[in-house]
Amino acid sequence: MRAASVSDFRELARRRLPHIFFEYIDGGSYAEETLRRNVADLEAIALRQRVMRDMSAIDMSVETLGQTLTMPVGLAPVGMAGMYARRGETQAARAAAGVGIPMCLSTVSLCSIEEVAAAAGTPPWFQLYMLKDRGYMRELLGRAKTAGCPVLAFTVDLPLPGSRYRDVRSGFTGATPLQTMLTRAKDGVLHPGWTWDVFMKGRPHALGNVQAAVTEGRRITDYMAWIGRNFDRSVTWKDLDFVREVWDGPIVIKGVLDVEDARDAVKAGAQGLVVSNHGGRQLDGVSSTIAALPRIADAVGGDLEVFMDGGVRSGLDVLKALALGAKACFVGRAWAWALGAGGEAQVTRMLEILRAELAVAMILTGCTSARQAGRTLLDQR
Ligand SMILES: Cc1cc2nc3c(=O)[nH]c(=O)nc-3n(C[C@H](O)[C@H](O)[C@H](O)COP(=O)(O)O)c2cc1C
Repeated sequence: MRAASVSDFRELARRRLPHIFFEYIDGGSYAEETLRRNVADLEAIALRQRVMRDMSAIDMSVETLGQTLTMPVGLAPVGMAGMYARRGETQAARAAAGVGIPMCLSTVSLCSIEEVAAAAGTPPWFQLYMLKDRGYMRELLGRAKTAGCPVLAFTVDLPLPGSRYRDVRSGFTGATPLQTMLTRAKDGVLHPGWTWDVFMKGRPHALGNVQAAVTEGRRITDYMAWIGRNFDRSVTWKDLDFVREVWDGPIVIKGVLDVEDARDAVKAGAQGLVVSNHGGRQLDGVSSTIAALPRIADAVGGDLEVFMDGGVRSGLDVLKALALGAKACFVGRAWAWALGAGGEAQVTRMLEILRAELAVAMILTGCTSARQAGRTLLDQR
């Protein structure tokens, strides 16, 4: 099947990836209420169709945090992408660089910051999870700085991982070593393309940014367990001072859903924030990001850069987010599915699809510049 839309990449990834990884990408926490809301609330927004307005030239580019993006989209940090395609983070980073948009590399990526920066020729944004070991945090931030990462995205909505039922059911979390071995063997036989590409040729299967700190176990599940035990729940806005001791570049707070927290991010001196509920993978039952976005943009949009992620599945969704106050939006599952479907080429194609859809949305709403998108693009009757 040749993918025509983001949902097609999901189907392709479902066929190609081992069940545990497809479910890990696809799922949300608990009853997946928020995951569904992210998508449904975006779908429910009506754009306002406008005609006869000379749309021969449109400009999708936006400027943010010292960078020009060819379109208002970035790749959100997604953990373990190196298990979805061979050295997956390097492939996604090359696709993003080729299209002229940023990729934000997860703390829990297989490929290290250095490997990704070298492979893409452009250093990625770096996403930080605050772990208890501050010595290691200092070292990691130093590495991101040395590699030339232009922006730090500090994820604050994961003081501990939410429970994802699908990961328990698939055996991704909580399985005994024997069950894990049997699941792997079955998955390997059923997905020979993945087994050759990722399992055989995509090694090492270690978390490149944290492996030096992990002392027990060398399986990917051991790493995840270590990370789980080491998330620092004591973090407050004061910890930004610690981050700034090592990191002098722009800081974007990822995982804000409340106006008061957004105001605190401004007070703490952040340069940006991402309105995010972690793609419905953390606190189930909270509001969708597109519902939270306009209140946050109204409150702090003049003080820092407001981005959003969650539920973005098309270029039409991108324009809706811009109309409601986002400078740009990030996609998570969309690129993880595309990567799982077929590596760099498919991530590039997914981004081209988003670009083409955004063009149609801009032209038929009479929006000539992504920088000027506002609420007048929406049918709010
Ligand atoms: C498989 C997967 C892994 C993720 N890993 C991380 C991560 O390591 N760090 C992080 O800040 N967010 C992580 N996220 C959240 C994304 O950055 C983003 O907030 C979310 O995917 C946006 O929703 P969407 O998938 O509907 O686009 C992950 C999301 C998924 C789907």
